[in-house]
Amino acid sequence: MKKILVTGGAGYIGSKLCTEMINNGYKVTVVDRLDYSQHSINHLLHNKNFKLIKRDVREKKLIKSLIRTHNIIIPLAGLVGAPLCEKNQNEAKETNYECIKYIVKNIKKQKIIYLNTNSGYGIGEKNKYCDEKSELKPISLYGITKCESEKEVIKLKNYVCFRLATVFGYSYRMRTDLLVNNFTYKLFKNKKLSIFEPHFRRNFININDVVRGIIFSIDNFSKMRGNIFNLGLSDANLTKIQLATKIKKILKNKSKIKKIKNRKDPDKRDYFVSNKKIEKFGFKPAYSLEDGIKELKEIYINMGNVKNNY
Ligand SMILES: NC(=O)c1ccc[n+]([C@@H]2O[C@H](COP(=O)([O-])OP(=O)(O)OC[C@H]3O[C@@H](n4cnc5c(N)ncnc54)[C@H](O)[C@@H]3O)[C@@H](O)[C@H]2O)c1
Repeated sequence: MKKILVTGGAGYIGSKLCTEMINNGYKVTVVDRLDYSQHSINHLLHNKNFKLIKRDVREKKLIKSLIRTHNIIIPLAGLVGAPLCEKNQNEAKETNYECIKYIVKNIKKQKIIYLNTNSGYGIGEKNKYCDEKSELKPISLYGITKCESEKEVIKLKNYVCFRLATVFGYSYRMRTDLLVNNFTYKLFKNKKLSIFEPHFRRNFININDVVRGIIFSIDNFSKMRGNIFNLGLSDANLTKIQLATKIKKILKNKSKIKKIKNRKDPDKRDYFVSNKKIEKFGFKPAYSLEDGIKELKEIYINMGNVKNNY
């Protein structure tokens, strides 16, 4: 039986991933400090194949002993996003980088699946698509910690790394700070959206496809190991203003989009991404941007107002 250790398994990606892995018959252990409440994994707690350890991933002894008893490690715990890392710089370095370095040091035969952000591509060249061979030049502390960790992970043999596009869609721990989720929220709930650096380009991927991609890599590990893959929707390379216009069209409401001139995007992503490599390995995303936006609308109809909605 596959025994999988997921750090940060109560988070946005982790709670969906763990649910799917339990449905697939895997045995899953989660280490999570539960920064955003236990609610997101409540539905798994009764399952005999699921175990929650409510601890900090910076506890080295704990992590070392858990690595020994699991055969696949998926380290998701971290301070996620540029603003959070800027606010808590030491903790970001410890959790996002030092912990991964420690896991790598203690891995023997175990497999590791690591999720980097494609924000590492920083500012791309005009009209050029970034692929896995493109230089990583992250700008934010978040991007730097993620790319430095990827460098550690690829020192191993048994790894698969994903460089994720900006993730969108509903999860048990909801994140309304992510671009599609955020724009849809504002255009639907507030009926207005202000956009800075509207021509910055981004690539997107539905959270269900992130989960499908990870499970695909577990099922096809011997073929995929030792590789880094961009994971995004090939038909969703859009500028921020194109995205906002698309959302407004799908919502069919009279919301207002305003461009702001003198504000900078802290994470400076501006690039288009090629996802051809993973497609050549046989993985195709199944959830479109349109479907994700429609699903978000249904979620937001019944959701209360979010206080810190960036
Ligand atoms: N969501 C995205 O768009 C995206 C894109 C690329 C990569 N990733 C990576 O995927 C991973 C998960 O991201 P997410 O969106 O689910 O974030 P999230 O913030 O929802 O989840 C992070 C989880 O880690 C836990 N955590 C944080 N510090 C911890 C600590 N010291 N000890 C124990 N638990 C701790 C939190 O409680 C939380 O449940 C991260 O490594 C992130 O860098 C996410």
